[in-house]
Amino acid sequence: MHPVERSACAKVILCGEHAVVYGRPAIALPLPSLRAVARVEPATGGLTINAPDIGRTVRLCDAAADDPLAQIVRLTLAHLNKAAPDAMITIRSAIPLGANLGSGAAVSVAIARALAAYVGAELSAAACSALAFEVEKRYHGTPSGVDNTVIAYEQPVWFVRGCPPEVLSDITAIAADLPLVIADTGRATPTHIPVGDVRKGWERDRARFETLFDAIAEQVLRAREALQQRDWRALGKAMSANHALLQQLDVSCPELDTLCQAALAAGALGAKMSGGGRGGVMLALARDADHVASLSAALRAAGATRIYQA
Ligand code: MEV
Repeated sequence: MHPVERSACAKVILCGEHAVVYGRPAIALPLPSLRAVARVEPATGGLTINAPDIGRTVRLCDAAADDPLAQIVRLTLAHLNKAAPDAMITIRSAIPLGANLGSGAAVSVAIARALAAYVGAELSAAACSALAFEVEKRYHGTPSGVDNTVIAYEQPVWFVRGCPPEVLSDITAIAADLPLVIADTGRATPTHIPVGDVRKGWERDRARFETLFDAIAEQVLRAREALQQRDWRALGKAMSANHALLQQLDVSCPELDTLCQAALAAGALGAKMSGGGRGGVMLALARDADHVASLSAALRAAGATRIYQA
């Protein structure tokens, strides 16, 4: 057996987070430059998973049933109908935890891909996505499946829960040109907290939340049209309108709002939080590629701890 390495990208939700859990559409984009990498190499004495970034080493035979690293390994082997090889899986990830960039799903997809390749099997994007979704369900309560989908396909996707994902091949090249700045608040929040709070709010007042979800869906449709027409102004407007609706869902936070305001003050065409919220990252749409550097500097000055480019 030869060592094998496979990776998976981070993601951002361009529009439609939270409402997507309730059947509305979302647009998600891959971030190919930010990745989790899994390496599988021969070892003795069973299968061990080593994640030095988070200081964890797990022996598959001793791992608890709900350990996410062991879970993706077990699910992948069961799917491929293979026994666990004597091997060491090492995970390294450049994707920060709790930043709403899909770190958990990316680690799952990287492990599934690497393990499959190590045992000489192929895994389609759909299969990788389905395996990672099983792990997501354990950690996010009611995930829509958008994160594992965009990460496994590594293409812009139009996602509606329960439907096959629509890969937006018409906007792949357009999305690559998008002058999007991604700024991290530095506040890490596990996705299941805001997702759980939205659920409680929806249970208390379904009519209000369903109206907000419909209004978000309208902005997602506008964003898609704007992308297809390369109309950055219209896209920025849809992003900012989406942020205002997410504020009404109470999933933003002062740090995210401050960065959004700073982006708009620095001339961004639109700004919004991205993903679960209450921390993590926000997106700012620059006027054009030349505007990216000054917009990034304004976001740093307003407190962003890290900046990523789409
Ligand atoms: C998380 O990236 C997006 C949410 O809509 C949760 C989900 O869709 O599972 C907040």
